[in-house]
Amino acid sequence: MLEMKNLSRAYYIKDKGQKVKFQALEKFTLSVSDGEFVVIVGPSGCGKSTLLDILSGLYKSDTGSFNIDGAAVTGPALDRGFVMQNYALFPWRTIKKNIEFGLELKKIPKDERSQISKNFINLVGLSGFENRYPYELSGGMKQRVAIARALAYNPSVLLMDEPFAAVDAQTREHMQDELTRIWQSTQKTIIFITHSIEEAVLLADRVVVMTEHPGTIKEIINIDLPRPRNSALVRNSAEYAGAVSEIWNLLHSADASLDSSAL
Ligand SMILES: Nc1ncnc2c1ncn2[C@@H]1O[C@H](COP(=O)(O)OP(=O)(O)OP(=O)(O)O)[C@@H](O)[C@H]1O
Ligand SMILES: [Mg+2]
Repeated sequence: MLEMKNLSRAYYIKDKGQKVKFQALEKFTLSVSDGEFVVIVGPSGCGKSTLLDILSGLYKSDTGSFNIDGAAVTGPALDRGFVMQNYALFPWRTIKKNIEFGLELKKIPKDERSQISKNFINLVGLSGFENRYPYELSGGMKQRVAIARALAYNPSVLLMDEPFAAVDAQTREHMQDELTRIWQSTQKTIIFITHSIEEAVLLADRVVVMTEHPGTIKEIINIDLPRPRNSALVRNSAEYAGAVSEIWNLLHSADASLDSSAL
C-alpha cells in the first residue's frame, strides 16, 4: 500500500536577480492499493515528474509524507523501479550491463543475471544490441532499455514517467500489452504518467487528473473496463469512449481556467 499525504514541493527560481518561489506540487494526497495500476495525467509542467521524483526517493518533499506499507520512504531502494522521463541510463555501461544493474545490487549470480537480461532485451526488441552503449542508440531504443532495466529486477512498485513517449506507435502498443501482462502476472503496483488519454484509459484501474499550477489532484476517474483488456475490443466500447471524453473535458477545463487567468 502506497500512502501519499499532503506532498508539496516548491522550486526557487531566479527572476531579475530575485529569488522567487514556484510551487510545483501542492498537497498531493493519494492512497494506492497493492497491485493497483494508477495513471496520472495533467498539463505539461503541472508537477507530475516532481511527484515521481519524490516517490522514487531521489528528491524530498517540502511537506507531507510518503509511506510504503506503513514505513516512511527516505531514499531510493530496490522495492521501487523507476523509468525517468529522460531515460537516465549509465553511459559507461553497455545495454546488457545497464539492464543487469539492479540484479547486481541484488547479488543475483552471473548466469542468472545473463538469462534475465536476455529475456528483457528480447521483450523490448533489442536483441543484437546487448553490447552497445547508450550513445549508440536512438531515443526510443534508450527508453526501451530504461524500461527493461526497471522491470528486470522485479520491484514490487513501478514508477514510470512517460515511458512510451519516445517509442514508435507499433512498439508502444506492444509495450502496453507486455506491461499489462507483466503487471497481471507479477501483481506489481504501478504509477504511470502519460500525456495520452487513450493510453491512460487502456491501462489504468484509476486515472488521476491533475490541475495546472500548482499541481494537485483535480479528479480521480475509475476505469471499470473488464480485464484482461483486449485493446482492439476496448477501443470500440462505449465505456472507453466515455472515459476518454470525461478526462479530455477535465483537462480541457484546466486549460480554459489557465486561459482566463492569463487575461
Ligand atoms: N529544478 C527545477 N528548478 C526550477 N523549477 C523547476 C525544476 N524542476 C521543475 N520545475 C518547474 O516545476 C514545474 C513542474 O515540473 P515537472 O517537471 O514536475 O512537470 P511535469 O508535469 O512533469 O511536466 P511535463 O508533462 O512537461 O513532463 C514546472 O513548471 C517546472 O518549470
Ligand atoms: Mg514530466
